[in-house]
Amino acid sequence: MGQVLANKHIVLGITGSIAAYKSCQLIRLFVKAGAEVQVVITPAGREFITPITLSALTHKPVISEFFSQRDGSWNSHVDLGLWADAMVIAPATASTIGKMVHGVADNMLITTYLSMKAPVFLAPAMDLDMYRHPSTRQNLQTLRAWNTNIVEPECGELASGLVGKGRMAEPEHIFAAVRDSLVAEGSSPTAGPLKDKTVIVTAGPTRESIDAVRYISNYSSGKMGFALAESLAKAGAHVELVAGPVALQLNHPLIRRHDVVTADEMLAVCLNLFPKADAAILCAAVADYKAAHAVAHKIKREETGAFSLQLVPNPDIAKALGQLKSPAQRLIGFALETDNEEANALAKLERKHMDYIVLNSLRDAGSGFGVDTNKVTILSATGQKYHFPLKNKTEVADDIVEVLATSFGE
Ligand code: PMT
Repeated sequence: MGQVLANKHIVLGITGSIAAYKSCQLIRLFVKAGAEVQVVITPAGREFITPITLSALTHKPVISEFFSQRDGSWNSHVDLGLWADAMVIAPATASTIGKMVHGVADNMLITTYLSMKAPVFLAPAMDLDMYRHPSTRQNLQTLRAWNTNIVEPECGELASGLVGKGRMAEPEHIFAAVRDSLVAEGSSPTAGPLKDKTVIVTAGPTRESIDAVRYISNYSSGKMGFALAESLAKAGAHVELVAGPVALQLNHPLIRRHDVVTADEMLAVCLNLFPKADAAILCAAVADYKAAHAVAHKIKREETGAFSLQLVPNPDIAKALGQLKSPAQRLIGFALETDNEEANALAKLERKHMDYIVLNSLRDAGSGFGVDTNKVTILSATGQKYHFPLKNKTEVADDIVEVLATSFGE
């Protein structure tokens, strides 16, 4: 692993969850990577893990109270906010998440959070009902919109049965998210046609809840969007990858990943990032509709007999960004079509104020969802048309990135 976090300062917030024992492993990973760790623990957190264990691992006294119990001196949350390169709250309970959103500064951890100047990472930990409750969903959405990095279990961790929804992400996963972000921040590419550009990429499907066990989604695997993120990073861009639920991993210092689930969450993150971005490439297959009234429990078959589901439209992320776009920004969308392909794609390009649209047709073998290849035509708002043969998605991504890079010179 090496000393990849040498000289980095991490404030680790621990709250009252059974997952608090996993903080020990997280501290070990940070310390092994060369970071200095200062633990701030809530009163409820102390019920789950002793400060002695934590201070033995960090070689520092644990901060819990506003005043130090040793000498009565004031623990300065403002100083911690300035000292830290990152604040990581793991585990984060529903209560702490609610307090963060509403500024309820009744313990040292929340006051530190409110004074924090560094990026904040949050690993939620609670039972499934609390996690699915609209209050928690809303609070997490708000925190995402404030650019908080929410580290949730990867689809792979869920599928392996290692963790369930609502359970805290594994320490290795939290560590990797913090490491990637801090390393990306410190790296400045020396070359590449997109050096110093920031590009948003949306990828994968969105998932819209119907009840506690069912959802609406589509077959997008995220492969095309992730290939774009890698190709952009290779070209020197800082990439903000906004990913729906996909089973893909990616590790590049210039790529910052924001995991989202619903179209509303994807919109909130994109709206937050777009003012500082030079371009956005919208490759996600956003669910066009969501349930008008998602329910928190499982709808039982015998309760209903015949069943009809009322759907309402999701926000159109491309259109929202198209309306905000400045002349210096570039907006590239995708069109997944089955018939009347070019006419439909051009209509979308105009309606959503895009500069380019990448057309892929489900009628072309080897194109579209899930596969490793794609056949695209890129159409521009100024009437240009570029046809490409069937290629690997990494090569398709390179073609799109080249068109984007060229457009900045025009
Ligand atoms: O993920 P893979 O398995 O690799 O598959 C790749 C892909 C087929 C998903 C990708 O190549 C692709 O075509 N993505 C866009 C799919 C799509 O939803 O197309 P659309 O024609 O419905 O939407 C047009 C554009 O508007 C897209 O840029 C889409 O991201 C955007 N959109 C759509 C709806 C919505 N509510 N908000 C949006 O931003």
